[in-house]
Amino acid sequence: MTYRRLYNELKEKALAAGKEESAIKIILMETAGFTFTDLVMNFDSPVPAGILDRIIKNSDDYIENNIPVQYIFGVAYFYGMRLMVNGAVLIPRPETEVLVEIAIERLRSFKNPRTIDIGCGSGAIALALKKHLPGSEITAVDISEAALSVAKANAKALDLDIDFILSDLFSAVVGEYDAIVSNPPYLAGEEEAEPIVRDNEPPGALYAPDGGLHFYERIFREAPRHLKKPGLIVLEIPTDKREKITALATEAGLYRRIGVEKDLSGRDRVMIIEYE
Ligand SMILES: C[S@@+](CC[C@H](N)C(=O)[O-])C[C@H]1O[C@@H](n2cnc3c(N)ncnc32)[C@H](O)[C@@H]1O
Repeated sequence: MTYRRLYNELKEKALAAGKEESAIKIILMETAGFTFTDLVMNFDSPVPAGILDRIIKNSDDYIENNIPVQYIFGVAYFYGMRLMVNGAVLIPRPETEVLVEIAIERLRSFKNPRTIDIGCGSGAIALALKKHLPGSEITAVDISEAALSVAKANAKALDLDIDFILSDLFSAVVGEYDAIVSNPPYLAGEEEAEPIVRDNEPPGALYAPDGGLHFYERIFREAPRHLKKPGLIVLEIPTDKREKITALATEAGLYRRIGVEKDLSGRDRVMIIEYE
């Protein structure tokens, strides 16, 4: 059995089950210890028996048992970084890279900005900001101790210096920041989650009371105590709740300009709020 034949067989199986072809490539690469180039170079080589067994087991976990490949291998890629993930953290999503891009661009006009990431999970946003704005000071907060351990391990592996705080939003946070960034939980309930998400990712990272709006309302209310003037709030938002979240920000009566940017699929995804 060559890698090519195995890839084609597993791809057919994945597509028939409504799963993603790209995940099969990841399963082959991660199990064989290949880079993408290694895989291409070895496409017509035979798959060693031990590796074949493990590829079949991993693809069964993905296709039959509905486990995301990132949890199978404990690895996810975000903004060019390889991050460790486990069931305690949300798998960082490509849509969130747009938030990072916008935050980096806006924060370039601040001198050595202080930024706080609320609900850091794996540390994806905080780590990307520190990597690309090395002169900035980054604090990352999460309510989950298990999530914070993953984020701390990622910071250590990437040699990036971040202050971590175990906190319910701002409750254990002191001091003021130039920017607050967050990708808070925003699904109203299980009915809004894909089965593979609902069955694997931590509920505390997915769902929020008040129809998914709870954390936006709290951030808008509590942020002014922790923001310098001028300051910025950059939030990931779900497209279908854009109007309600804009209304909450407007009703808070404290914010000057409220803008929304789209993700790469053209969906409203990032809210940028100026505080003066
Ligand atoms: C949607 S995940 C985002 C994770 C990461 N920032 C990312 O974009 O991949 C939301 C995170 O918020 C955390 N969280 C939930 N409630 C919280 C609260 N009250 N205070 C602080 N963090 C909270 C969850 O534990 C989870 O890690």
